[in-house]
Amino acid sequence: MISQKEYIKRRERLAKSLQINSMTLLLSATQKTRSHDTEFPYRQNSNFYYLSGFKEDSAALLIVKTKESIKEYFFVAKKEPQMELWTGKRLGVEKAKEIFSFDDVFEFTQLQEKIAAFSVGIDSFYYDFEESEARLTSLKSELKSVECFYNVASIIGSLRLVKSVAEINIIKEAINITKKAHHRAMQVSSKLTYEYQLQAEIEYVFKKNGAYSDAYTSIVACGNGANTLHYISNDKALEKNSLILIDAGCEYNYYASDITRTIPVSGAFSDAQKELYELVLSVNKAIIKMIRPKVLRSKLQSKSEELLCQGMLELGILHGSFQELLDAKAHKKYYPHGIGHWMGLDVHDACPYKDKNGKEIPLKAGMVLTIEPGIYLDADDKSVPKKYRGIGIRIEDDILVTKEGYENLSEQIVKEIEDITRKSNSNL
Ligand code: GLY
Ligand code: MN
Ligand code: MN
Repeated sequence: MISQKEYIKRRERLAKSLQINSMTLLLSATQKTRSHDTEFPYRQNSNFYYLSGFKEDSAALLIVKTKESIKEYFFVAKKEPQMELWTGKRLGVEKAKEIFSFDDVFEFTQLQEKIAAFSVGIDSFYYDFEESEARLTSLKSELKSVECFYNVASIIGSLRLVKSVAEINIIKEAINITKKAHHRAMQVSSKLTYEYQLQAEIEYVFKKNGAYSDAYTSIVACGNGANTLHYISNDKALEKNSLILIDAGCEYNYYASDITRTIPVSGAFSDAQKELYELVLSVNKAIIKMIRPKVLRSKLQSKSEELLCQGMLELGILHGSFQELLDAKAHKKYYPHGIGHWMGLDVHDACPYKDKNGKEIPLKAGMVLTIEPGIYLDADDKSVPKKYRGIGIRIEDDILVTKEGYENLSEQIVKEIEDITRKSNSNL
């Protein structure tokens, strides 16, 4: 649970970095059409949620900062019994006034008129370019005195980089549910016929344990499917002697988890699968061990590339001199993605990697990032030793940077070969 106090503190931190005589607008997410007149389940915009904790649509937060004061105004949907009969109860203005500590609360329909009323003397306007651009066109006519428009999302992104204790606890709970799902996948894979059946087992565990949903579409890729990085069709048969790459994590109380395990359908690794798996695992562990404050993510990236390049050379996947291969980035063909990313309210948390001056932001206690090295060897790639073709492996953990170094939040999700084999042979 995130307390009201924490939301207030977040808004105070945001307000500090806003200019005098500025207005800042954050809008709730809009409903997204799935088809014709049905909608996707509603999910609040992460930045709006970060600052308010409010889960309804048709809502807005307006911050007006002048030399004299910082005022926060909130806008919520009107209570309409006929509408609520269909789509559920709304909090409404009066209740919102009681619960939150905004300077005033209005109906969402009043947003335009209030922006006009508060915009006297305002010369800077902050909004979320991505979420609000289209919806701002009509409001811009009210902002005649405004000279500068800024993207508030990049400021909020910086605030979101370091997680609070309360946020970390929610992320831990998300990972705990995801752990149960991956372990169940290991236990049932040999008994199933199709990838989507395994996906169903995983997402059943998410839902059963109170997760809102998957944090991103689950990847359940058997055999060569794993070599498509964003494989989400999950519609192929589970082949007995293949590996399955499972990249699946739940979203719990708005926070993501992001875990990949690569397991044998049958529970037993072949020798070739083992060789590749041990290489990826050793890189996963070596990079995690490097994590501590002040380290640069680019350092983790380059080290992971070095280690995978060296390993692929030793396995006969790459040929030539190590330094030449590394310089030519030959390994990129088989390890084409980044070592990891920030994780939080978004699975790829919308936080910056560089500061205002374009300098890379070093790791700091409280940051959460994934570490996810991989090797992808396509079935049709004749330059790869035959025994390795059609194998794709990624091992992904979620890591908290601590003062002393790191905490692997997903340590409990087994990844050693013998632990996976043991898990596969254990009963549900
Ligand atoms: N699941 C998406 C990623 O690993 O980045
Ligand atoms: Mn992932
Ligand atoms: Mn990831």
